[in-house]
Amino acid sequence: METQYWKLRKDEPLESQLEPAAKLLRQGEVVAFPTETVYGLGADGLNGEACRKIFAAKGRPADNPLILHISEMDQIRPLASDLSPMAEKLMAAFWPGPMTLIVPKSEIIPEVVTAGQETVAVRFPSDPVARALIRLTGRPLAAPSANKSGKPSPTNAQDVLQDMEGIIGGVVDGGACDIGVESTIIDTTGKEPVILRPGGITEEMIQEVMGAVELDPGLVSPDQKPKAPGMKYRHYAPKAPMFLVEGPEAGLGVIRAAVMAEAWGLKVGVLALDETVQHLPHTARLVICDAGKDMAALAENLYTELREFDRQQVDVILGEGVPTQGLGLAIMNRMRKSAGHNILVYDQGLFRKQSGQVPEFLQGMVVE
Ligand code: TXA
Ligand code: MG
Repeated sequence: METQYWKLRKDEPLESQLEPAAKLLRQGEVVAFPTETVYGLGADGLNGEACRKIFAAKGRPADNPLILHISEMDQIRPLASDLSPMAEKLMAAFWPGPMTLIVPKSEIIPEVVTAGQETVAVRFPSDPVARALIRLTGRPLAAPSANKSGKPSPTNAQDVLQDMEGIIGGVVDGGACDIGVESTIIDTTGKEPVILRPGGITEEMIQEVMGAVELDPGLVSPDQKPKAPGMKYRHYAPKAPMFLVEGPEAGLGVIRAAVMAEAWGLKVGVLALDETVQHLPHTARLVICDAGKDMAALAENLYTELREFDRQQVDVILGEGVPTQGLGLAIMNRMRKSAGHNILVYDQGLFRKQSGQVPEFLQGMVVE
């Protein structure tokens, strides 16, 4: 299949530029589009046949349900059989924006979208391109992240093309995504809101509006099954083995590990904050990704940099862990998965094994 590509121009009306993409979507084809979080792989969310094409394009397991994207607040009403006061309050506070609500599903939703769940995931994005495309199509758009299953989510159109060229109907290029990690998923079907996936709307923000908020136990403990089916898969994974250094001196630990790995003869990808990166030596075998100054910059750059390591064919990746406050919770959730839970803690000049593997180049230097 030839994949059409539309680069949006700022000097022309959005609607006329998006019309060919909306037409393909109405015909039941799959089109990738930008949102404020990551690029989505869209299809008509009320057309089961079209949604099946999403699963085929991604190589997505059939038990992993899709999010329906809407362009007006009230578009959720026909999709849900019931909306709790909790859901209404969250909608009023955080929509449009990077929040997905789990609500009881209505009759009109195709089985393939919810993958056997009694609930459906709904999101009202703030990105103007996403909203215009949904509005023009005239349907809720089912859209998972536009990557092949298991790979980091794409945050720009080139990364989408790398995974989806020749496989889907088209790609709308609206530039790079603002936030860079996926939306916060909140289950609204119980007594308290429960975060099933941390994201751009933080635990602290929800706490402030709702008074109480819980974290799905499956997010915290590796032995518990996560409630969002997609959260159980190894995800966001670059090709090379990745090790995450956490703790009060994470940056120092990354520098020390990078120097050791380089001395071992490895090509090393380093993903760290500005302050850490400044202290790294510049050698041919170190591929340094400066993730920026703060959490927002790290979130925005995370997936792009992980994909860059694949392109540079590094042998090993070292990531700098950050505190799990604010956006840090979402970032660490993704980074720990990318690293397959290979986690070291660096504190007072010592490496300690937290979980997973210990890299060969640090053996003998790590307290188990
Ligand atoms: O920011 C985002 O949410 C992006 C953009 C494109 O909107 N979308 C996204 O979709 O991340 P996806 O498919 O990559 O992740 C959706 C997650 C999966 O973990 C899935 O298992 C979960 O949402 N999910 C979907 N429906 C659910 C349901 N009814 N109950 C629990 N989890 C659900
Ligand atoms: Mg995804």
